[in-house]
Amino acid sequence: MAIKAVKGTRDILAPEIRNWTKYEEMARKLFRRYGFEEIRTPIFEYSEVFSRGIGEDTDIVNKEMYTFTDRKGRSITLRPENTASVVRSYIEHRMDLQARVKRLFYIGPMFRYERPQKGRYRQFYQTGAEVFGSSHPFVDADTIEMVVRLLRDMGLTGLRVDINSVGCRECRPNYRKALQDFLSGHREVLCEDCKRRMDSNPLRVLDCKVPGCKTVVTDAPSIQDYLCEGCQGHQGQVFQFLDTLDVAYSLEPGLVRGLDYYTRTVFEVISEGLGAQNAILGGGRYDNLVKELGGRDVPAFGWALGMDRLMMVLGNRKLYTEEPTFYVLPIGNDLKYAVATVATLKNAGYHAVVLAEANSLKSGLKQINKAGGRFAILAGESEKEKSVLILRDMGNSVQREIPVGDLLKEIENEIAK
Ligand code: HAM
Repeated sequence: MAIKAVKGTRDILAPEIRNWTKYEEMARKLFRRYGFEEIRTPIFEYSEVFSRGIGEDTDIVNKEMYTFTDRKGRSITLRPENTASVVRSYIEHRMDLQARVKRLFYIGPMFRYERPQKGRYRQFYQTGAEVFGSSHPFVDADTIEMVVRLLRDMGLTGLRVDINSVGCRECRPNYRKALQDFLSGHREVLCEDCKRRMDSNPLRVLDCKVPGCKTVVTDAPSIQDYLCEGCQGHQGQVFQFLDTLDVAYSLEPGLVRGLDYYTRTVFEVISEGLGAQNAILGGGRYDNLVKELGGRDVPAFGWALGMDRLMMVLGNRKLYTEEPTFYVLPIGNDLKYAVATVATLKNAGYHAVVLAEANSLKSGLKQINKAGGRFAILAGESEKEKSVLILRDMGNSVQREIPVGDLLKEIENEIAK
């Protein structure tokens, strides 16, 4: 039996892949405009990077990591996200000494053992941005505005920015206690996971998708009522800067995130059209993570965008412009004339291929039709003798002879038609 791709993974093929590469090009350009440098960290890390980084009692660490022991018995994990890896790298390379504020971005695959469904894969792709070294609320707003611009530049509309604060070490314990008190009154109706989470990590209950738990938390106390002065002030300023930058947002007091490292600002961008997995991106501030992973006390802010979901939202819309490929048919055994013709085309920046394996005009044209080609160029021996080429429009099968020296001028006219 033929072997298939592993469940939850897939091949990204043409023409879809063209949107991916064009998007990546647009993203890279935008990042540079905002002062970000690319970083590529390894796809696997010591498991500790993620268990300590993301938090022991999160779904990602508990259930979703691809972890294995290598030949020397060390525990290794395929990255389920990249923030913890980037922090590991930031500390390892003492990037804190390189610049007061360090802005990094990445594009690449992540791995989570989740139940595959629409918009959810086991290997998926993220674009991410991380800013280290500033606790200023402007950084939160500016980094959010950057991704809103990226989405807008791609022509996306109908997106919503949800934002909240998860407090800090000062105020979150008070909220946690209030939430625990509230949840203990509803213990019986919570799912098994939430009964456990209630004690270990009660904020996770707010994020539970089980209907019974969702109903309970609609009446839960709001973290907004428990924020300390510092967190309130920070949030107020983030809102002001978002207004200044013309970014629309809505305060969602129930928004917590699936990872434990956040402090203060958390946010998500939602696309209503996506169904249950409707978050295109998410992120927030994580002022304690660098220190927790062994670095200095460096505040940070970042987000990661799910590229698979972004491509779903884009649907059939093309980010790229379609450029025709010229198929050059040698007709006969001597390829030299066809090869020279293709070289002229390629040198001028056109897409061109020699159909060396087409052993007759008929089979060549069939091959071009199958590939959806718009133009054929016949470059056989008789054309060579007359120093001409035959340019054929595959759409209407009209063909005409052109002097070889006029090739570029003639195809320019054809394309413009
Ligand atoms: P996250 O919310 O776990 O955050 O993931 C960010 C985005 O990745 C999601 O909004 C979603 O679009 C996409 N995503 C997550 N899991 C899957 C999946 N199984 N299949 C397809 N897409 C998926 C983070 O990863 C944080 N590191 C974000 C961050 C960066 N926070 C601070 N800096």
